[in-house]
Amino acid sequence: MTPAQPVLELAGISKSFLGVRALAGVDLRLQAGEVHALMGQNGAGKSTLIKVLTGVYPADAGTIRIAGEAVRPRSPLEAQRLGVSTVYQEVNLCPNLSVAENIFAGRYPRRWGTIAWRTMEDRARALLARLNVNIDVGRLLSAYPMAVQQMVAIARALSVDARVLVLDEPTSSLDEDEVRRLFAVLRRLRDEGMAILFVTHFLEQVYAIADRITVLRNGERVGEYRAEHLSAPALVAAMVGRELAARREAAPAPAAAAGGEALVELRGLGSKGVVHPTDLALRAGEVVGLAGLLGSGRTELARLLFGLERADKGELRVRGAPVRVDRPRQAVALGMGLLPEDRQTHGIVSDLSLRENIVLALQARRGVLRNLGAQEQQRLAEGLVRALGIKAASLDAPIAQLSGGNQQKALLARWLATQPSLLILDEPTRGIDVAAKQEVMDEILRLAGEGMAVLFISSEIDEVVRVSHRIAVLRDRHKVGELPAGGQEQDVYRLIAEEA
Ligand SMILES: Nc1ncnc2c1ncn2[C@@H]1O[C@H](COP(=O)(O)OP(=O)(O)OP(=O)(O)O)[C@@H](O)[C@H]1O
Ligand SMILES: [Mg+2]
Repeated sequence: MTPAQPVLELAGISKSFLGVRALAGVDLRLQAGEVHALMGQNGAGKSTLIKVLTGVYPADAGTIRIAGEAVRPRSPLEAQRLGVSTVYQEVNLCPNLSVAENIFAGRYPRRWGTIAWRTMEDRARALLARLNVNIDVGRLLSAYPMAVQQMVAIARALSVDARVLVLDEPTSSLDEDEVRRLFAVLRRLRDEGMAILFVTHFLEQVYAIADRITVLRNGERVGEYRAEHLSAPALVAAMVGRELAARREAAPAPAAAAGGEALVELRGLGSKGVVHPTDLALRAGEVVGLAGLLGSGRTELARLLFGLERADKGELRVRGAPVRVDRPRQAVALGMGLLPEDRQTHGIVSDLSLRENIVLALQARRGVLRNLGAQEQQRLAEGLVRALGIKAASLDAPIAQLSGGNQQKALLARWLATQPSLLILDEPTRGIDVAAKQEVMDEILRLAGEGMAVLFISSEIDEVVRVSHRIAVLRDRHKVGELPAGGQEQDVYRLIAEEA
């Protein structure tokens, strides 16, 4: 193998799904010892290319070469034997197995014919330690938050000797510190000669780690660039093409919403082991941001409010009247909606169509007796698909066939369809591309302008600052402060970092 020979070479890869063209003659070359970013908007074909490469789907045309030799993996396991290890966009681990079992599933270490549990747990612990994650590997995976589960998926990919490591949006659930640790591991692997293919929607991450960049648009390769030769605006232009010209500038800083009575008010609302007693007022027409590091209690507070956790302290008031919310059903009846952070387990119903997924929450609220007519469903779904720019073959397409970012938008549409008076959004822009993020935030501001109260949770502080009228900052499951309109990123960081 000459130094110039790519360790992995895809040539002319095409793939269509029942007439929907996902990839058209795509080329990709990976060199040993490089981190290569695969970029493109939602639905551009990134995940499909990865699935063709790793044997999840057969290609309609094109060739795959590993170290110069043509291969045709028929399953991820076969791809792994060929030296390609992958973390897919939708983390496909088993919540009911332990962390260690998840890392070694299908390849349990054995001794005298039985599974060597101790060895397995020791190895799992060592792998996670490389990622600086120190947890009880004997516990069920479901006991841990999304970010830890993501790390477990990465540890699983690292548990085999691979020449090529493929990571499809591995950082979407990770906080800054975890991303740093992951990147340190990736740099070390790269320096050891591994070729790493990396998908992300975070431009800073691309420039922090990638040596080269391949850009896809509408299933076609736009080009391959050295990262230092492609500026961020040029990268975005390559991804979105001419659409960029039509885009507006960032939304203006939101005007302070009218004060007045709270629509929903938390008075010392808390739950032992979940979140400390919290005061927070949510008003119609106002977007309140919740900022804090991972594990600071953002998601927990949202779950408490929505009845997914039971409050054992304090009081919740809706329009001034004390209420009990012990189940999501009660929250929905009071006019709340929650877009959960984990779309795979708490979100999409993969057997249902895009339309069915969108009308699901509204139908549930109306009950079986007041069925939404077919026409009404169609009209509602069409309108939301247009408003959010959801890309799908049709409204009848099974939602599992949408790209990750488009699934996320469909979930947002589901809650918008219910026209809640309070919408709680936990990481609503996860997996959404740069151009679409702005559209989603504009839509949130528009809805607030129409009188909706919004609780906006994101690990991206800049996003929280851009969209919120007021920001509540959490640390260690305590609310440590509130910033009025005009709060800056540094103010948020200062509150997060301050010693209690
Ligand atoms: N199993 C499938 N059946 C039908 N269509 C599919 C299937 N998988 C993907 N597609 C379609 O192929 C296109 C490319 O999807 P893909 O998931 O590769 O996009 P992506 O670049 O990974 O986007 P994202 O950034 O949102 O994850 C989309 O139009 C998608 O709807
Ligand atoms: Mg994808």
